[in-house]
Amino acid sequence: MALEIVRSVAEIRSRVNDYKSNGKTVCLVPTMGGLHAGHLSLIAKAKEVADIVVVSIFVNPTQFNNPDDFETYPGDEEKDLESITREGADLVFIPTVNEMYPEGFSTEVKVTAGIDILCDAHRPGHFDGVATVVTKLFLQVGANFACFGEKDYQQLFIIKRLVTDLNIPIIIHPAPTVRENDGLAMSSRNARLNKAERKVAPQLNQAMQLAREKINKGGSISKACEKAKEQLESKDHFKVEYFEVRCGESMVLVDKPSSKCRLFAAAWLGDVRLIDNIKL
Ligand code: PAJ
Repeated sequence: MALEIVRSVAEIRSRVNDYKSNGKTVCLVPTMGGLHAGHLSLIAKAKEVADIVVVSIFVNPTQFNNPDDFETYPGDEEKDLESITREGADLVFIPTVNEMYPEGFSTEVKVTAGIDILCDAHRPGHFDGVATVVTKLFLQVGANFACFGEKDYQQLFIIKRLVTDLNIPIIIHPAPTVRENDGLAMSSRNARLNKAERKVAPQLNQAMQLAREKINKGGSISKACEKAKEQLESKDHFKVEYFEVRCGESMVLVDKPSSKCRLFAAAWLGDVRLIDNIKL
């Protein structure tokens, strides 16, 4: 079946309604474009959980705290459409900024838990922008399911909470982080790394793996994280924002390892912010 491109809210709602009234289930994969194998793994997962897959592409201006980051956000619609077609999605929803935020737009979803930590501490307001656009996408599309990557674990945590809190009838399916061969977590922003930065970028994940090994052998969590931070910053490569262990269910900081723990890290490499998280 050919990929159908839809640009208006009225049309996506009507197409999904048609599918659902014919007894089909629908899964949404929200993205901001610049698609890579991580995004494509979500489409593959969506195909496993539902009959019909809708991919949305919308570079959401309200979740960017840095105007330069928004302006230069990597994306190529034609290339993205080719990848989505190859992966076998059924519909792609590409609203304009005006379709999403028409003049007079004045309502926002405010996140009140799981914030002030990790990415939110460094990108204030970011998750309100994410929560608002994701709520809108859920209501516009009316899918039964949606897939989100564990790569953005705090985002996944906030969205699961949002769906419960706002009684949105949609089931969230998480998917594991897809990595390059050298361990670097795939991200649209990796395209902005220069050659030298790209070479050292996997050191973030390597430092995380080393810290995990030390912790799992009985070493202190705080010492392992401090040491990793020091080493990443020692050669002037990385500027670490956070490197810490939290409970993956409550997101509370922990000092004793358990099977629920995850190690979270974010660091700048030049102008590029890398984030990653792994299970302990
Ligand atoms: P974006 O960064 O394009 O990511 C879209 C989805 O792909 C998210 O669920 C993200 O977690 C997932 N993803 C990104 N890199 C991944 C990787 N290496 N492995 C597995 N999944 C990966 O996240 C957003 O867009 C936006 O905030 C959005 C939810 C679309 C709201 O605007």
